[in-house]
Amino acid sequence: MPVYSKMNRVILGAGACAAGHAFVSPFMHSSLQVQQASDPVEYKPPSSASGISIAATSVGMVALATRLAFRGARPRSSQKAQMQAETQAFDGWSHCRQHKTELLETVKALTMPGKGILAMDESSGTCGLRLQSVGVENTEENRQKWRQTLLGTKDLGKHCGGAILFTETLYQKTTDGKLMVDLAKENGIIPGIKVDTGLVALVGGKEGENWCRGLDDLKERTTDFYVTGARFAKWRTTVRVKDHSALAVSEAAHGLAQYASICQSSGLVPIIEPEILLDGEHSIDECAETFEEVWSAVFKACADFGVQLEAVLLKPSMVTHGAQSGQSVDPTTVASYTLRALNRVVPPAVPGIMFLSGGQSEIEATLNLNAMNQKPNPWHISFSYARALQNTTLKTYAGKDENIVAAQAKLLARAMANSKAQLGKYDPATADEDATAAEGMYVKGYTY
Ligand code: 13P
Repeated sequence: MPVYSKMNRVILGAGACAAGHAFVSPFMHSSLQVQQASDPVEYKPPSSASGISIAATSVGMVALATRLAFRGARPRSSQKAQMQAETQAFDGWSHCRQHKTELLETVKALTMPGKGILAMDESSGTCGLRLQSVGVENTEENRQKWRQTLLGTKDLGKHCGGAILFTETLYQKTTDGKLMVDLAKENGIIPGIKVDTGLVALVGGKEGENWCRGLDDLKERTTDFYVTGARFAKWRTTVRVKDHSALAVSEAAHGLAQYASICQSSGLVPIIEPEILLDGEHSIDECAETFEEVWSAVFKACADFGVQLEAVLLKPSMVTHGAQSGQSVDPTTVASYTLRALNRVVPPAVPGIMFLSGGQSEIEATLNLNAMNQKPNPWHISFSYARALQNTTLKTYAGKDENIVAAQAKLLARAMANSKAQLGKYDPATADEDATAAEGMYVKGYTY
């Protein structure tokens, strides 16, 4: 019997006996109602109370009986301590308690209204391909110049609360000898870090499927990344829509959940990114089905690993048709499919959903985000784009020092457009977009 209910019965017994069934204190009245509502059984005085009832023939005795009854029901200090310990054990923060406050602060800063994330965490190989596309050789020095151009864009922090860096950049200095991390922080940008070490063939999966490496030494690496200044992290794995194996889904979910829990224990907010690949001939409905299957598995795994959802960010792809399907859909359709899927599988405890662009043009990615923010959502819905933030900026920069100021103006304009889209206020009619912003950037089998 619950303590509360037992206590009510004892008081009722004492009071009824003393006042000839006429005395009911205000407390007794309300507690009686509680008992009637929750436990509608006929009153039988418990044996410990019945002796008190018989002896209680005056109001003073009633008071004594009441006090005794309370004393019996009140949890002792050891019980209290146990209850507190149980509450703490179930609050979910035990694996990262010393970082709790900071994790929540980081999440809050990254999900302020109008804010998103600049993804600039391409591996040296992929960054090199992007640079080579504008005639710039892939050297460490050229990657350094390009990345300090991005991070040094004045006022970028007003629209991008964070930037995801590649390891090289996290430990790198600018050409003036300043740490890139400090350049970001001075500009109001929280440094984040890509921590997966890339995709490899999934043995036991279907032909062409991958899994993501990087868990073995993740605790040591994330501890070091935290000391270096990173406060959030990213892990990207992929699942294709058609013909994926159950193993690919469960492996993706397992890796993401274990990564997320390790990151939280090291003080880094994990961005969870299972990318549902755009590659293929699938319809938007098939994409939605895979999206829900994968994300459900991810949250189940997160629960298994004790990931604290208040301190994660998600990075999904948008629900859309396959790149080789020959179909095209408008932003309203992308938004309604994507939001339906998110609402079905993502708990509202998650603070933010920061989309990847997946090869969409800059304008397309902004329009889709804008469409998703036309009415309130349970989460902050925003951007964590790489290609769809960098394309026009890169083309404007083209590796020339004299273009840096113009390139930074392009980045700021793109970030501002996405910031408006986060607030649902992007207006393409007045946006004055460059021709390059309409260029699709889809590459089959794109790797980071
Ligand atoms: P894109 O926006 O180019 O798809 O990049 C996604 C990503 O995961 C970068 O961190």
